[in-house]
Amino acid sequence: MDPREIVGKALEEGRRKLLEHEALEIVKAYGAPIAEAKLAKDPEEAVKIADEIGYPVVLKIVSPDISHKSDVGGVIVGLKNHSQVLEAAKKIFENVRRNAPKARITGLLVQKMAPPGLEVIVGGLRDNVFGPVVMFGLGGIFVEVLKDVSFRIAPITEEDAYEMMKEIKSAKLLEGYRGQPPVDKKSLAKIIIAVAKLLEENEEVESIDLNPIIAYPDSAVVVDARVILRLK
Ligand SMILES: Nc1ncnc2c1ncn2[C@@H]1O[C@H](COP(=O)(O)OP(=O)(O)OP(=O)(O)O)[C@@H](O)[C@H]1O
Ligand SMILES: [Mg+2]
Repeated sequence: MDPREIVGKALEEGRRKLLEHEALEIVKAYGAPIAEAKLAKDPEEAVKIADEIGYPVVLKIVSPDISHKSDVGGVIVGLKNHSQVLEAAKKIFENVRRNAPKARITGLLVQKMAPPGLEVIVGGLRDNVFGPVVMFGLGGIFVEVLKDVSFRIAPITEEDAYEMMKEIKSAKLLEGYRGQPPVDKKSLAKIIIAVAKLLEENEEVESIDLNPIIAYPDSAVVVDARVILRLK
């Protein structure tokens, strides 16, 4: 589906938050590589989809009412076969029913599990004064505790994107550490530029959060995307 159609449909339905698969699809349309994923309605369908995608997979709750899926027991990673997927799917529905009893449930996202790498985040928001602004940082404690991030106002060139990656205090980690090779900055620059463009071209998008993107020496992949719309 075209980004305009995805946004239009959500607004028509009165939803301010895109569902995760919709958010991933929009990000992909702007040139960011995403982990392969499909929506399942029930545990049986989740198994079927996992077979298609190939193991290992990750299961995630999809709901218009839940934005921090892990907080409600809505994410299980590292599922290696049929029975693990079936069990995890049931467990997620159980967790969500208990921890977020009022949440409407759309289904389960079955997503290809990305191998371990360096987790980074790219975010974007529409500032009242500056317009679209994009943020880059490392994942986990780097952003949550250390607030080690860099910002740029859109439009963003490839050079800007490289500067953003250089500016964070923990930039050295991108260069490789403890014998690790450096991560693929070209792929990350592409994702930073995609987020800027997405905000510039879609007035209805208020904010976007790619958390995390997993980076490798020769690629990077977005595994979680949150897009919030503004109702005009
Ligand atoms: N496809 C995947 N491959 C590998 N690891 C993944 C994948 N999806 C999620 N993870 C891991 O699980 C964590 C939680 O997943 P996700 O980000 O989708 O949920 P979340 O509820 O948004 O979590 P948070 O609020 O902490 O960002 C991620 O930060 C990442 O470490
Ligand atoms: Mg996340």
